[in-house]
Amino acid sequence: MSISNVPFITLNRFEEGFKEKFLGGVEELFNKTQFVGGPVVAELEDKLKEKTGAKYVVGCANGTDAIQLALRACDIERGDKVLLPDMTFWATFESVVNVGADPVTVDVNRDTLHWDLATFKQAVEEFKPKAALMVHLYGWASPETMAIRKYADENNVMLIEDGAQCFGTKVDGESILGSAKIATTSFYPAKVLGASGDAGAVFTQNEELAHKVRVLGNHGRTTHYTHGLVGWNSRIGAYESLFLSLSLDHIESRLDSRIKAVNYYKEHLSGLPLEVQLSEDNVKENGYCAVAMIDPGSRPALIESLKSANIGHGTIYPGAMSLQEGADKYLVGKIDNGNADYISKAILNLPCFAYITEEELEYVVKHVRNYFK
Ligand SMILES: Cc1ncc(COP(=O)(O)O)c(C=O)c1O
Repeated sequence: MSISNVPFITLNRFEEGFKEKFLGGVEELFNKTQFVGGPVVAELEDKLKEKTGAKYVVGCANGTDAIQLALRACDIERGDKVLLPDMTFWATFESVVNVGADPVTVDVNRDTLHWDLATFKQAVEEFKPKAALMVHLYGWASPETMAIRKYADENNVMLIEDGAQCFGTKVDGESILGSAKIATTSFYPAKVLGASGDAGAVFTQNEELAHKVRVLGNHGRTTHYTHGLVGWNSRIGAYESLFLSLSLDHIESRLDSRIKAVNYYKEHLSGLPLEVQLSEDNVKENGYCAVAMIDPGSRPALIESLKSANIGHGTIYPGAMSLQEGADKYLVGKIDNGNADYISKAILNLPCFAYITEEELEYVVKHVRNYFK
């Protein structure tokens, strides 16, 4: 059967038997009225440790909370300056503001779409921040991740890594989530490792930080009704934990199909004004997003053409953080080389999801090639 549409993303491609296994597990949890916490959460955290190599993993309510828990665990508070990339999802910015700290946006590199060491150094020298939130977008990472980590360490800048999009991504052979001092992820259903609802996690090598994250995410509890810290409720649900735990059994093949899709676009769309990008050689991407760039003036017409062929697309993200209306009140500084703004106008994301079929990829490629004929 020939196809006539390809969504930008769909969440409905599961392995055979997955649904039945999940629903069977839900029934069991329901019968035990095990809704929050319990062995299913511990099992998930153990599996996440095993997959990433992180020493400690703490599940929480969502990826935004994970960043806020990490910031709070690192004692980032009112009046502290925190660097973040000008190109990221708004939650990164919100998290800094929500813990009372002052955000400083730092531009990204136009080629790698991530921070580079030179601009990061410039920002540290100029703003003397207490912390920095490095973001690994698109399932990629900065090729200079390790150098940025080292520089932050040597200059007493607490580096927290927002890995909401980078589960499974490696830099210089190392799992990002597993090798960071402290990193976070989101298990929002559309992520490469998505849950059956909202969920997130914090990954760290440091026992004290892990303990603090867990306490903060459970009302600052020291015992059931004594509270050593002011935290909030950011516990992960049992059904979400079960769903994630079962998904982890298939994560390699899900990532593999995504990476194959990205490579397919790269191979079959070469030589066109729409340039498919891959991460740098020392970064092993996870296939979260198919990233392509086009001259900003030509993007609207191509988008219209994709729409006419029922092909979904994304523009992740269509605006720099420092240019958001909500940023005005909070932004205390920025390094703006115009790159995030340019990227926001030039980027175009093609359909990419686990188990996208060869027919679907062919349909997209054929349409785009014809468009540029
Ligand atoms: C880079 C980045 N940071 C943070 C988040 C927030 O995660 P959540 O939606 O789970 O709160 C996301 C989710 O889209 C994200 O992409």
